[in-house]
Amino acid sequence: MRLHINIDHVATLRNARGTPYPDPVEAARVCLDAGAHGITAHLREDRRHIVDQDVERLRATLRATFNLECAATDEMIGLAVATRPDVVTLVPERREERTTEGGLDVAGNAASLAKHVAALQAADIKVSLFIAPDPVQVEASRALGVEQIELHTGEYAHAFGYGRPSSSDLTRPMPDSAQREHVRLAAAAKRGYELGLEIAAGHGLTTRNVGALVMIPEIVELNIGHAVIADAVFMSLGGAVKAMLGAINKGRPA
Ligand code: PXP
Repeated sequence: MRLHINIDHVATLRNARGTPYPDPVEAARVCLDAGAHGITAHLREDRRHIVDQDVERLRATLRATFNLECAATDEMIGLAVATRPDVVTLVPERREERTTEGGLDVAGNAASLAKHVAALQAADIKVSLFIAPDPVQVEASRALGVEQIELHTGEYAHAFGYGRPSSSDLTRPMPDSAQREHVRLAAAAKRGYELGLEIAAGHGLTTRNVGALVMIPEIVELNIGHAVIADAVFMSLGGAVKAMLGAINKGRPA
């Protein structure tokens, strides 16, 4: 299981005061030292956290997988092609949202997405599409020829409930609504795997809800940000990454 840490919130904190610190590039190094397998950053159109210079610095210094999340727009694809991250995850983006809400409608936007996917693949960049766990979207993603899908786990996380992220009480059964979302995620992961796609997952994952998620055997990568940075406030960033790796390994021993 690959764990990629999303470091956007470190940039949010930096930008809140306009200081050069805390530095998301330094955070990336600490996450990797603690055992994370890669780093994820979302360059939003409004640059509210990660900025272009962060992307350039991450590309220049990271010695692990760099997954750049961005909207499927000409500007972002141009930037991605110029910077060459290892992976680009295309996400839907609305300026007024607090975080990425919902998955990409791949089935409804296949023609416009195809152009962007082709440009990224021509630059040797692996493409992942962030989608809802919906078989229609999984099949539409396969039809576009991407290598990976990332299943949106937000509904699952929300249904699971938000106790303190660091209290990993795995003995309590998950609510029925979370169980239903888990079934949807498992079915989408299985369908994607059958179609030859690599399966990632992310959004809203915590040390409490990740153990059950990683029991879905087709999932090979997790992208986690908010809960790790939140835990880092009380532990340390390295400690929070290690706690997340511990919760993952409890659910699916390495
Ligand atoms: N994956 C994608 C595609 C995302 O957009 C985000 C949020 O930026 C995440 C994973 C991480 O979600 P969270 O911060 O809730 O862990």
